[in-house]
Formats: sequence, structure tokens, C-alpha cells
Amino acid sequence: MPGDDLAEILKEPGRILREGGLVAFPTETVYGLGGDAENAASSRKIYAAKGRPSDNPLIVHIADFSQLEEIARSPVPEAGILADAFWPGPLTMIVRKNDRIPPETTGGLDTVAVRMPSHPVARQLILSSGCMIAAPSANRSGRPSPTRAEHVEDDLMGKIDAIIDGGPVEIGLESTIVDLSEGLPTVLRPGYISLEMLEEVLGKGRVRMDPGLMREDVGRRPKAPGMRYKHYAPRGDLKIVRGATEDVISTINRLTEEALAAGRKVGIIAASETRDRYPRGRVEEIGARSDEEAIARHLFGLLRRFDDEGIDLIYSEAFDTPRMGTAIMNRLIKAAAHQVIEARRQVTRVIFVSGRGVCRAPLAAELLRRQPLDGKPEILARGRRVLFSEPINQKMEAVLQGNGIEAPDFRSEGLKDEEITDTTLVFTMDAGQRAEIIRSFPHAGEDNTYVLSYYVGDELDILNPYGGNLQQYGLCFELVHRIVEKLAARLNEMNA
Ligand code: TXA
Ligand code: MG
Repeated sequence: MPGDDLAEILKEPGRILREGGLVAFPTETVYGLGGDAENAASSRKIYAAKGRPSDNPLIVHIADFSQLEEIARSPVPEAGILADAFWPGPLTMIVRKNDRIPPETTGGLDTVAVRMPSHPVARQLILSSGCMIAAPSANRSGRPSPTRAEHVEDDLMGKIDAIIDGGPVEIGLESTIVDLSEGLPTVLRPGYISLEMLEEVLGKGRVRMDPGLMREDVGRRPKAPGMRYKHYAPRGDLKIVRGATEDVISTINRLTEEALAAGRKVGIIAASETRDRYPRGRVEEIGARSDEEAIARHLFGLLRRFDDEGIDLIYSEAFDTPRMGTAIMNRLIKAAAHQVIEARRQVTRVIFVSGRGVCRAPLAAELLRRQPLDGKPEILARGRRVLFSEPINQKMEAVLQGNGIEAPDFRSEGLKDEEITDTTLVFTMDAGQRAEIIRSFPHAGEDNTYVLSYYVGDELDILNPYGGNLQQYGLCFELVHRIVEKLAARLNEMNA
């Protein structure tokens, strides 16, 4: 839309707004569904068209700072400071209101959300209509916000008076909302403008995140009514898989295989860097991890595309990127209704290591082999100091037999680095052995080598019964038996 003609093109939509009609229009964040903010009937129509609960307030879009002063109850110093830094742009400020904006527009609250958009169409539409424009995102309530005019058509065609097509939006996530109506300025919805950017302008410690946004803080509710609803929901069941990159990839691939086998249509949301690592399922590339703005811009559109294709299960990587990560993950986690899977490694080999490798290690190995294990990992017994190969310790052999277990045909072997693969877990009998193994074997590390008893939540080391009597060997058997049962349960969880 060439600049000069914009005023001409927007004359008619401007008239529609002035006369109480509804017009969807592009902003730099997402498309908005606009009505005259001072007209209670227009606001009611907006709620009806969106299917939105009427206690969820709308944002009032303005073209000049003086309009904020017209509708605010009293001057707000921080608003001037933030407007200088970020307006026009993707920031919404909440201030206490006077009577100019009717309660229908603010969901009955005595505060009002105000934003000055930078998109030329939004700006000109405000000027052409002569109205302040109340506009929520132009989606049906509960669907992802629209980032293209086609999304608005899909959701609202026939329910509103006009849609202005301004092409795809720039940012793709809704504005950052900061509450200036009481106490410390508080971010109620994260967006393109991060907490750090606000701090740079207002001063460190002069702005905070709404504690209700942090899920761990279960006792609190987010202050922005809109942040309480299940929102941005795609039709497919979305789950986020989080963890080390390789674990995320293998977990998504495994879950995808299982779901495909069960006849489901599976979509995968992946970064450009990992896109090619998913051989099955319908993979959508969201953008490079190094380009978080692309990730933000594409998120909602991708969710809608999966909907259109009838995808009924979606696995997404997590995108904890530096600046917009908070906003991206906020939307993604809401779209997933908080379903986050911690990616863990599949275990295909378990190695027990003891000193000479003739007693505790083969005992643990033998007992674990008798547990029902998913995924059938290989189970090995090794020693740290194996000078020559020996059979299992005779007293332990006797204890095993006493418990009805035929001692294995066994010769001790020393641990070798190449036995420790990506999907191996190594278990030692005490902390000293663990440290020594991590130090001397390149493939052993903090995340694959553990003290056996600590790993299952026990505090005792498994002492070497060597030199003790049969009873001490028996106690060792009991202890290892108990620990191995717990280990089997843990392994089955991981390989589930
Ligand atoms: O980027 C955006 O902000 C887009 C474009 C169109 O400007 N608009 C948008 O509006 O996202 P909407 O209605 O989808 O989201 C507005 C959010 C809701 O969560 C609402 O509860 C909150 O702002 N909100 C509005 N007025 C409020 C108030 N007075 N107090 C607390 N929260 C408020
Ligand atoms: Mg919305």
C-alpha cells in the first residue's frame, strides 16, 4: 500500500469505525479487531465476534500521546518515559482511567490498556477514523493470534465489516503489557520489548515480572485477565520437549514413531539447525535459533497451518532464546496447556563398576538382569583394578546360591572407555570410584556416571564385604538387591 494513497484507502474503513462498525487491521505485532473505543456498543460487538468473555478488557490504540492523557485519571510519569523510548511500538501500558472510555471496553475495570502502534496502516486508521480504536487480537477466542489477513478471514469472515490486508506482520507476538496503575511497574504479558529493555529505561529494579506469570508460583493468578484463559490453543494436542539438544531430538523421534504407529497425525516444530534430524512426521521449520525474531514471527502461523492440515499431535522443541525467549515460551507453554516433557536419554547399556570387579559389580549385574526391564538394556559388570581375570567371589557365589540364584559363568574384566556409549549409564559403588572414573575415562562424565546408591536416592555407599564373614556378604546382597529394584524402576521410567 503506497504511503500517499493510504489515507485515501483507509477513508472507508475509517467511516465504518466512526459509525460503530468493526474493522480488522494489521499492526506490527498481530492483526487487531478494531471498534470505536468510546462506543460501548462497538465493544460489545467485538466480544460477540470473537466469542470472548466480556470481562477480558480490550486495548485502546492511539496515535498521539495526548490521547493517553485524555483517558488517564491522572498524569503517569513512567508513561511519558516509556512512550519516549518505545512508542510508537509494541508496548501496551495500563493506567487508571477516567470516565471517557466506557466500562464495556475495559471489562468493567477502572484501568485502561493503551498502545500506540507503529504500523503505518494502524496509525493512519486511527487518524482517518478520528477514533481511539479498541482492539483485541483479531482471532476467535482461544485460537492463535492472527499474523496474516488470511488468519483473520478464517476466524471472523462474515462476522465483521471489513478486513484490511497489510501482508504478514513484523513481530508476530502480541505487545508487551506493562501495568503502571499501582506500585512497581509490572510486566503482565512478555513480548518483543523485554524486561531488560524496560529496566534500561526505568532503572534496574524499577520494573518486575507479574509473579502470577511464573507457573511455579501456583498460588497466584496473572493480573491481566487474558493471561488466565487457556489461549492460543491449536486444535492438535501440543507438547513441548525440553532438554539437551540430542536428548530432545531422540525423544521427539521416539514419541513420533510411537504416535505414528498408533495412527496419529504428528507435527514437529523444529529450529532450522535441527530440522533435518527428524525423519518422520510433518516437520515445520520455525526459524534459526540465532534468529529469535524469525521464531517469534512464525510461531502462530505454524500452529494454524498444523490445524489446517488436521495434525492431531504436535511436538515442539523449546526456544529459550536470549531476548524474546520469555515471550516465545510464554505463548508456546500456554498453547501446550503446560504440557512439557523433559527429554531424557534412552539407556541401552548399564555398566556396574566395583574395585576388582569380582563381587559387588557382578552381583548388581546379576540382580538387575532378573528385573523386568523395558528396552532390554545390555548389563555389564566391570572392575577398576583388574590385574587378572577371575571368577566371581566364592562367598558371594554361596550367598547367591543360598538365594536360589545360580552364579553366572563369569570372569572379571576391566572397564574400557569405548564401552561407555552415548546411551550408557555407569554405576560405581562409592564416590571415590566415581570421581576417579570421570577423571580417567574420556567418555565418562557427570551426566552418565553415578554412585549407584545415590542415584536411586539412598545415602549409603555399598561397602566391599571382602574379608568379612558370610553374614556380611549376605547383608551386601540384601542392600544391592533393594537398590537394584529401585534402579529398575528408574530405568523403566526413562525408557518409557
Ligand atoms: O499486540 C497487541 O497488543 C495486540 C494488537 C492488536 O495491538 N492486541 C492484543 O489484544 O493482543 P488482546 O485483547 O488479545 O490482549 C489484551 C490483553 C489481554 O490479556 C487483557 O486481559 C489485557 O491485555 N488487558 C487489557 N486491559 C487490561 C487492564 N486494564 N488490566 C489488565 N489487563 C488488561
Ligand atoms: Mg488475544
